[in-house]
Amino acid sequence: MDLRSDTVTQPSPAMRQAMAAARVGDDVIDRDPTVQELEERTAALVGQEAGLFVPSGSMSNLLALMTSLGRGDRFLAPRHAHVLTHELGTAAWIGGGIPLELPWSHAPGVPSVADIEAVAAEESRRPAYYELITRLVCLENTHNHGGGHIVGWQLANQLSDAAHAAGWRVHLDGARLWHAAAAQSVSPARAAGNADSVTVCFSKGLGAPVGSMLCSSREFIDRAWRWRKALGGGMRQAGVLAAAALVALDEELPRIDEDRLRAARLVRALRQSGLEADEPATNIVLVRPAPGDGFTAEALARAWNEAGVGCLTMGPAVRLVTHRDIDDQSLADAIDLLTTATNTLRHATGVPRL
Ligand SMILES: Cc1ncc(COP(=O)(O)O)c(C=O)c1O
Repeated sequence: MDLRSDTVTQPSPAMRQAMAAARVGDDVIDRDPTVQELEERTAALVGQEAGLFVPSGSMSNLLALMTSLGRGDRFLAPRHAHVLTHELGTAAWIGGGIPLELPWSHAPGVPSVADIEAVAAEESRRPAYYELITRLVCLENTHNHGGGHIVGWQLANQLSDAAHAAGWRVHLDGARLWHAAAAQSVSPARAAGNADSVTVCFSKGLGAPVGSMLCSSREFIDRAWRWRKALGGGMRQAGVLAAAALVALDEELPRIDEDRLRAARLVRALRQSGLEADEPATNIVLVRPAPGDGFTAEALARAWNEAGVGCLTMGPAVRLVTHRDIDDQSLADAIDLLTTATNTLRHATGVPRL
């Protein structure tokens, strides 16, 4: 049972069938009809004019940053944002923008309006020619490292308003925007909260094998299209991949909130076995061994992996992620394995079980 990430899913039979039957063309020369359909549909879903299909969320974010930033520019992103810590700092050495971390003043992974206004106020006091000029705020919804936390749509609007008031663009890394929208019962467009460009992924939670989409205005996407080519991201008969992503939108998007409900069940069971686990906002569960447990997150993750439940450590926590390949029965089986392995670990460390 693999709960390391929601990216480990297998393509469904419907996806494999759609891939086999996809109408395709050369998307580098004169476009692929299935890719075009996916681009139009996804852009409309997130409330933008145009979309650009790319192999990964990292490329989508990088294209957004490259298109928004130049040398000597700065961008803001919440601490531990994926663009800061998990994309090799490409925003700086390829995109040319220097990052400034925003604190998590509102919630884990979520800055406050005051955080943005404070940078804007500070920058307006020092317009020296040799200083960086902020151009962009890059938000992440849901925030992976923050434990799948949601930037609520009203707050997302307010954060965008604060950035726009300072004259900055807003890019949203919405790799898991689907989960944020479903948890708030709003459309992905509303959950995106007035961002100027949005990354969404088809391979996180939606179960498609490959693919992400950068969405924005037509003009912005036309510029990003050139950068995609520069990075080697043009894909020829990519309709084979887009076909699976279209199935993901049809069949997986409507059921995605099930993952949040299962994550909540998982947390209840882990708490019953005496562990400290954050209340999940979406499909990411963070378990934090307490000093009294007598074991570290690494030891707990090792024990759980050895018991047959895949998990990862994330900072001082163990991360478990629910997804489409974990149904009610496999969740119940996973809970049994996790509970037994935790008790065995407690026994081995001599700390009595609760
Ligand atoms: C929040 C977030 N953004 C972007 C990415 C990058 O996506 P990819 O792995 O497709 O490059 C990930 C990957 O897990 C992510 O969690």
